[in-house]
Amino acid sequence: MTLRILLLGKIGQLGWELQRTLAPLGEITAFDYPEVDFSHPSTLAQVVQAAAPQVVINAVAYTAVDKAETEESLARAINAAATGELAQAARKAHAAFLHVSTDYVFDGRKGSPYVEEDTPHPLNVYGQTKLEGEQAALQAGGAVVILRTAWVYSTRRDSFVTKVLGWSRNQSELRLVNDQISNPTWARMLAGITALLLAKSRGDPFGYLDERSGLYHLAGDGYASRMEWAQEILKLDPNPEQQTARKLIPANTSEFPTPAVRPLFSALNCEHFTQVFGLRLPPWQLALRQAMDPLR
Ligand SMILES: NC(=O)c1ccc[n+]([C@@H]2O[C@H](COP(=O)([O-])OP(=O)(O)OC[C@H]3O[C@@H](n4cnc5c(N)ncnc54)[C@H](OP(=O)(O)O)[C@@H]3O)[C@@H](O)[C@H]2O)c1
Repeated sequence: MTLRILLLGKIGQLGWELQRTLAPLGEITAFDYPEVDFSHPSTLAQVVQAAAPQVVINAVAYTAVDKAETEESLARAINAAATGELAQAARKAHAAFLHVSTDYVFDGRKGSPYVEEDTPHPLNVYGQTKLEGEQAALQAGGAVVILRTAWVYSTRRDSFVTKVLGWSRNQSELRLVNDQISNPTWARMLAGITALLLAKSRGDPFGYLDERSGLYHLAGDGYASRMEWAQEILKLDPNPEQQTARKLIPANTSEFPTPAVRPLFSALNCEHFTQVFGLRLPPWQLALRQAMDPLR
């Protein structure tokens, strides 16, 4: 089996992992800004047409959650309009479209992990534009699978993990919020499960995903607060002797005002994905252990 895959966003946390993980599946054409510019959505159909792919994977997003509050039209072009254009172009090319969305489509008030049937209610521009992207992709029709994930991290790009390690080396105590809760998700594991999902299509991704089109929650198994996540990061630090922080102090989100309001409990329930695809991401602590292993 060799698939022709068009991967957009090859330099991002997820896209970089996808580029290496998908390689055994076939021929990957991969782009990022400025080779493709999602702020000009109408340019994207031509990119899809030229690649003549069997699968289009969109790992591009405007992910600067706070900045999006003042760059709403740019965030909307990249997260919503461009997603719709790609989904339509994929359908016309008879290619499956795999897209990634976020737990920030929810307001965090449910109090237990969200399932796909729960009604979204974004609290910020990023979440709103990502929700519009989901809707545009589904409206386009064709073989569209949207993977809603949460708290994505990698150790090669700026992420919560690298930030906590950095703070632990230049502060004597760390104040971390313990009322924001979701599923830490290692970008490499998410890329791995995407590759397995495509491998299951046995050379016919359009047919396989057309039968399973829709929205799925897919994130690290289990959930944690930012404080619990940070505790685990510091525990697994391969160079703990470099830490200067001696104390972790729990704090409330209200103590750290940010331009964008974030949902408090946005953990995702991923059972539906497991039922349909027979795959699941491992517990978030196990993935973090592997991500932080210096020999990996
Ligand atoms: N990070 C999270 O915590 C999180 C949580 C839930 C869901 N997600 C979703 O997961 C997916 C992957 O996220 P990620 O963390 O891998 O994001 P990321 O690291 O921020 O990567 C996004 C990619 O999009 C590219 N990009 C931005 N603007 C562009 C434009 N105008 N034209 C073309 N490319 C552009 C970025 O390029 P530059 O680096 O040059 O800007 C980057 O390569 C996204 O759909 C995101 O919404 C992320």
